[in-house]
This record gives sequence, C-alpha cells and structure tokens, in this order.
Amino acid sequence: MTIEIVRTTHPKPKPDPNNLVFGTVFTDHMFVMDYSEEKGWHDPKIVPYGPIEIEPANMTLHYGQTVFEGMKAYKTEDGEVLLYRPYENMKRINRSNDRLCIPEIDVDACVEYLKELIRLEKDWIPEGKGTSLYIRPFIFATDNHLGVRPSHTYKFMIILSPVGAYYKEGLNPVKIYVEPSYVRAVRGGIGYAKTAGNYAASIKAQMDAAKKGYTQVLWLDGVHRKYIEEVGTMNVFFKIDGEIVTPMLNGSILAGITRDSAIQVLKSWGMTVTERELSIQEVYDAHAAGKLEEVFGTGTAAVISPVGELNWDGNVITINDGKIGEISSKLYDTITGIQSGKIEDTFGFVERV
Ligand code: COI
Repeated sequence: MTIEIVRTTHPKPKPDPNNLVFGTVFTDHMFVMDYSEEKGWHDPKIVPYGPIEIEPANMTLHYGQTVFEGMKAYKTEDGEVLLYRPYENMKRINRSNDRLCIPEIDVDACVEYLKELIRLEKDWIPEGKGTSLYIRPFIFATDNHLGVRPSHTYKFMIILSPVGAYYKEGLNPVKIYVEPSYVRAVRGGIGYAKTAGNYAASIKAQMDAAKKGYTQVLWLDGVHRKYIEEVGTMNVFFKIDGEIVTPMLNGSILAGITRDSAIQVLKSWGMTVTERELSIQEVYDAHAAGKLEEVFGTGTAAVISPVGELNWDGNVITINDGKIGEISSKLYDTITGIQSGKIEDTFGFVERV
C-alpha cells in the first residue's frame, strides 16, 4: 500500500533534551490509517500532528475498545536510526486486538509505515544519555453507537514523543507499595492485553500509593492475593540467592518485550532465570534470610528500574541498601547499549530504519 505524506507547514521547536518529561511533547507528524468492513485497513497516511474529530457517541469513549503499544527509536553516534524490536510490538498489538475483537493489522506493513514516519521525524530523536523517541501506536473503535458490540470501523494511529527517564528517580531505585486491596486483572480477563482498561483500573491504587510516598504499586494475583504479578508499568524480577525469578506469564500479566529481552540477556550471561509462581511471602522470607539480593522492573518506558524498597502491609524492607544492584546496573547498560548501537547486538533486537 502506498502511503500519502502531508507535511506540516508549521514545524514546532524541539524541546530541551536535558529536561524531557515523559509523554508531554509530540513531534510534527503522526500516522493514521482507517479500517472498514468493506475496505479492511486502508488509506495509510502521515499528516501533521493535531486534533482529531470524534463524535460524542464514539464507542471507545464508552466501552474502551482500544489497544496500544509502547516502543522506542534511538540515534547512534554515527547518526543512524535504530528501532528496538518493532516486529515484537506489532505482533503483540495483534494479540491485544484479538482479545478486544479489533481486526488484525499487517505486521510487516505497519513496521514499514512506522519506519517512514521515523525517517520524517528523525531530527526529533534526542541524543542525550537515557533519552529516546517514544513511539505510541494505538487502535481505537470509531463507530458512533451505544449498543455493546464490536465496532465496524477503527483508526490505527502512531504518535511520537521525545522522552527521558520515565520515573523522576531516573536510575535510582524506586519505592514500591504492595497493593493489598485492589487487583489489576484476573485470569480470563484482559490483563495480558495492552488496553486502556488495565491502566484505568490501576490509577486509584497508584494515587493511594503516591500519597504514602511510593512511586508505583506491586500487584498481587486477583484470586489468592498472594502471588506477584507485575508493577504499575513494568514486569518485575527478583534475584534470590543468585537465581533470577520472575512471575510466569499466566494470562493476567503483560508479556513485556523488555521482560523477554532481559531474560535472553541474563541467560546469555549464564544466569539461571526461572519463570514461575512467586508469592510475596517468599520474597519477604528471602529477605529475612538475607537472600533477596536485587529487585528490578523492566518496561519499554522504564527500561530497567531498580527497586529499593517494598512496603507490604506496613512491613517495609530495603533491598540492597536502597542502591542499584550489580545485575540491574549491568542489564541497564547492556540493553540501553544495544538500543543505542553502542554495544554489538548479538540478539537481533535492533532494526535499522
Ligand atoms: C511502556 O512501557 O511502553 C508502557 O506501556 C508503559 C506506559 C503505560 C507508560
């Protein structure tokens, strides 16, 4: 499919790369493509970034039939542009699409559209340490209808935002509150899909945790309220007595692409990585026995984020003296090194634009 490009006549000034706040500034252009039952996905185009018109009866506003992705582009020291695992993100949006009854996209074509957009916006990729161009593909229902059913029409859009660290702490360890009351998702629900409802469900707990001085919440499973699932915007890993343990993908956890990258990199270093059920009690027991060595989160936005403190029902534990651990630090350097082209990519993670 050929792609129409309409260039902006009013390019915006670029933000200060040293003061980027996550998700606040958007580039000059965006990608848009429509779906109808008659035409399938059609009319891919790149147009100036700006407001879109929707009617008050738009189904997404009422029933949340929408999915999204998060990915990043980097500029190497020689000015080459790299995307990080874009095919994985486009494949995952199709898994989310399936759960939300949204029509499948063509993965290869969508990576090509994305590359076209990135080429046009390459001057927006910030070059400072810890910065990147965050890519937000999303699809939403566009029928105007109040009955509960799948929409017959959709829009697929991609917007871009130059970003720095997701957390104000940067690479300093974050404090996490183990959520005792609310749950994020249950098996059979939409937990594994990257869809708005999962994030909407998380906001109240996150606000309560923030009032207590915590950056994010750690979710426990929705049935037993015992087993660790994930942290607000990250998957979570524990180093216990030399072994790395992370909750297995069980249907209610998001299959993070940085999670998968971390597992591959850790295994390549000869470390044992186990994906299994892990209770919060086991983590506290390991801490009491002096065996909880590191805790860190992984995510596209957060990259690798060390955890320095956990609060479970008022029992506060400090991990690795509240400092970044050796493995978290090495993993951060390796993954960001591969992403930015500073370290050779032996895993096939990066895609040249
Ligand atoms: C990402 O890491 O890309 C995410 O989707 C987190 C986002 C909700 C901020």
